[in-house]
Amino acid sequence: MSDFKENILVTGGAGYIGSHVVRDLGNEGFFPVTYDNLSTGNRKSVLCGDFVEGDIADSKLLEEVIEKYGIKSVIHFAASIVVEESVKKPLKYYENNSVKTFKLIKTCVEKGIENFVFSSTAAVYGIPEKIPVNEESPLVPINPYGKSKLFTEMVLKDVSAATPNFNYIALRYFNVAGSDPQVRIGQNYQKPTHLITLALRAALGDYPQLKIFGTDYDTPDGTAIRDYIHTDDLSNAHLLALNYLKIEKKSAVLNCGYGQGSSVLQVVDTIKKVTGIDFKTEKTARRGGDPPALIADSRLIKGILGWEPRFNDLDYIIKTAYQWEKKLKEKKIER
Ligand code: UFG
Repeated sequence: MSDFKENILVTGGAGYIGSHVVRDLGNEGFFPVTYDNLSTGNRKSVLCGDFVEGDIADSKLLEEVIEKYGIKSVIHFAASIVVEESVKKPLKYYENNSVKTFKLIKTCVEKGIENFVFSSTAAVYGIPEKIPVNEESPLVPINPYGKSKLFTEMVLKDVSAATPNFNYIALRYFNVAGSDPQVRIGQNYQKPTHLITLALRAALGDYPQLKIFGTDYDTPDGTAIRDYIHTDDLSNAHLLALNYLKIEKKSAVLNCGYGQGSSVLQVVDTIKKVTGIDFKTEKTARRGGDPPALIADSRLIKGILGWEPRFNDLDYIIKTAYQWEKKLKEKKIER
């Protein structure tokens, strides 16, 4: 039996979602090579494989890494991801998510990469006409974040059509939350912006209250609705995508969500229930760039990749995120 482990390049592997995928690649017999500039990632989150500190726009270093490890498959996470920040700093988003990613793709094609898994986003849909939203829905992003990711999807489509051995899967993530059940890795941003993280920190007393951005949306309780998906189900989708690319040698664009939504108020109530802590909330104006509701139609990913969610349970998602936040607060992990 061969003990050869295929090396997989993971850009942004020290980040929140990337580190979960690196963990699972290791568990599934691959050898992950994390390539990360540590702008938001944490070296200690890389649980297995090798680590290279570098920027995706550094084509020379990337070429060396691809050659050294004989890389044929790349999973690309490295990106800026905060919707509201993208409205205030569009150039940062177009630079990191479009220009630098374009350079990465160019390097990959020039070095004969065959399989490319791309972290895209539900933000490419903007305000969907129909909910749940399927992959054929119009792509009309309403913030620079969504636009910057859509640009890369377009590049990948054209490049794969023109390059016989280059295939890609773009996974359009819905709202990723939760963390490793063994509490080794999780979301660890300097300035968190995500609802579940901020609400948990309010519950733990880090903030006096949670702001609820917008109570006048056209939704049953007036607050915005999202499709929250556990990191481990999302991570599994990446491994299935990689295997599909290697076997089928075909490209695809797939939603990655559960197909059900929770409002901000429902999330707040669930956090109060799971933690047993009551915390203050403050109703405020809508946040820039936020659509009212985003829920995935996930039939395609289930059909094409055979993906089956295992952690489709908001209580469980919040429980794992809570364990992680408590560990961060006890300063058992560097923030
Ligand atoms: N929200 C609050 N208070 C907060 C934080 C968030 O009310 O303190 C609200 C937001 O206004 C929004 C909802 O909670 O309505 C979810 O907000 P998040 O910041 O948690 O997530 P987003 O939906 O803005 O964005 C996330 C990712 C994107 C991804 C998108 C896909 O950050 O990368 O989900 O739906 F594209």
